[in-house]
Amino acid sequence: MPPINNEISRRRTFAIISHPDAGKTTLTEKLLLFGGAIHVAGAVKSNKIKKTATSDWMEIEKQRGISVATSVMGFNYGDYKINILDTPGHQDFAEDTYRTLTAVDSVIIVVDVAKGVETQTRKLMEVCRMRNTPVIIFVNKLDREGRDPFDILDELENELQINVRPLSWPINIGAKFKGVYNIYEHQLSLFQPDKQHVTERVDIRDINDPAIDQAVGEDDAAQLRADIELIDGVYPEFNEQDYLDATVAPVFFGSALNTFGVKELLDCFVRIAPSPRPVTAIERTVEPGEERFTGFVFKIHANMDPNHRSCIAFVKVCSGVFHRNANYLHVRSGKSYRFSAPTAFMAQKKEIIDEVYPGDIVGLPDNGIFKIGDTLTEGEQLHFRGLPSFSPEMFKYIENSDPMKTKQLNKGIEQLMDEGVAQLFTHQFNNRKIIGTVGQLQFEVIQYRLLHEYGAQCRWEPINLFKACWIESDDQEALDAFKKRKHQFMARDREGRDVFLADSNYVLQMAQQDFPKIRFHFTSEF
Ligand code: G4P
Repeated sequence: MPPINNEISRRRTFAIISHPDAGKTTLTEKLLLFGGAIHVAGAVKSNKIKKTATSDWMEIEKQRGISVATSVMGFNYGDYKINILDTPGHQDFAEDTYRTLTAVDSVIIVVDVAKGVETQTRKLMEVCRMRNTPVIIFVNKLDREGRDPFDILDELENELQINVRPLSWPINIGAKFKGVYNIYEHQLSLFQPDKQHVTERVDIRDINDPAIDQAVGEDDAAQLRADIELIDGVYPEFNEQDYLDATVAPVFFGSALNTFGVKELLDCFVRIAPSPRPVTAIERTVEPGEERFTGFVFKIHANMDPNHRSCIAFVKVCSGVFHRNANYLHVRSGKSYRFSAPTAFMAQKKEIIDEVYPGDIVGLPDNGIFKIGDTLTEGEQLHFRGLPSFSPEMFKYIENSDPMKTKQLNKGIEQLMDEGVAQLFTHQFNNRKIIGTVGQLQFEVIQYRLLHEYGAQCRWEPINLFKACWIESDDQEALDAFKKRKHQFMARDREGRDVFLADSNYVLQMAQQDFPKIRFHFTSEF
């Protein structure tokens, strides 16, 4: 096998997603511990990693204690190279998470055993489903009282709309929690609360092995056997291809805080999770093993240092090998660039790297050349798909509070929008600028960053809007008629496309009813 194929097949690039507080940070930390990327875990505060890590680039993050950043943690585990793409926990930054999901090959979902499936998990799963991303589920906090595991499985199937297959099974829960039976490998792990170490596994022949009775007592052993029989009767046997096709999600149980069930999850994950998958561009599908380098920008991160307003563009390598100092085509601008200081993300460090393989993320210093979604190639005209903007949910007019700084304000707004912080629309009726976000916090971030990074002051003014949606039609006359009738509610996005601003759900529904020839889109990619 040529070396590039070796490199590709050993890579696992994924994100951990959850509703806030389900245990994503704790699980991430434990995975880093197994990879030797950090040396102490558990005793530290749950989000300490975020605070001491390189994702600490933005002042605002420190102030709010919320990880606004999406950082990348790469480490080696056995023969595997693992890249965890961190996603912001706060739901106001969901858009960042959606984008990060375009750069991963699989996902681990963490669910709290007491709370089950929560809103944020449901939304993120929708994105995974849209992209056919393979999913493994980790049911966390078994050391606490929680719901019946069979109930949780039913809820996962109903709420996440995916078939599930338990690969491990808990023996009791909460104060009586005794351990986990690994259905996949016929092993029993006995629970010992420990934040630093992995519990010893007990190898057994099969579910009828009397060693189980000795370890957990006859009653619990009998219950476990009954549960496993039920599971084998209800759920079809686990098939790796179904997981890779994203039709079945394997489920593990454990306690991230107690480093329990995590190693089982990781060992199974590296074995079954996909290596870098083919990526679809508008022109064609790109295979990771192709000789020529291609990649796309999924995230732009503002640098900590406000004096040098350089950013870092996070590029996912889709095919070929990225070489330092080679010339690459920036397809959108048609210009060629060389990168002399590309950075790799190994665990918590950033370091200059000479070669980057498919599946890996490379950080490129960016002085304003990149926008989210940009493609880099060795010359081919290629545009990667799959980075839609979702119709925002909150809107405000942005106004200049310091007329001496108009230029700075405009530049700041442009660059923040390139980074994908929010969406900008220009009202066609009054030419005012409207910023659309998915959460209130983003308005504060924009105001803060405009002031601290660009020296510009803005203020927000209310606009009563329910949704902004992109419109199109095959019938130009119908389109013109619609725009004429709704001229007070028309805006343009940054690409100059027509956007309809609906001030209520009712208005939107009426518009859809009255103008059947118009198509209304709720994501920018159609
Ligand atoms: P998140 O990133 O998904 O938001 O969750 P995070 O890991 O920060 O975990 C949220 C809380 O749940 C933390 O407690 C964490 O210690 C706790 N937790 C995580 N895994 C388990 C588990 O397996 N069992 C139990 N009992 N708790 C768990 P916290 O009180 O918010 O923070 P801390 O003071 O403990 O650090």
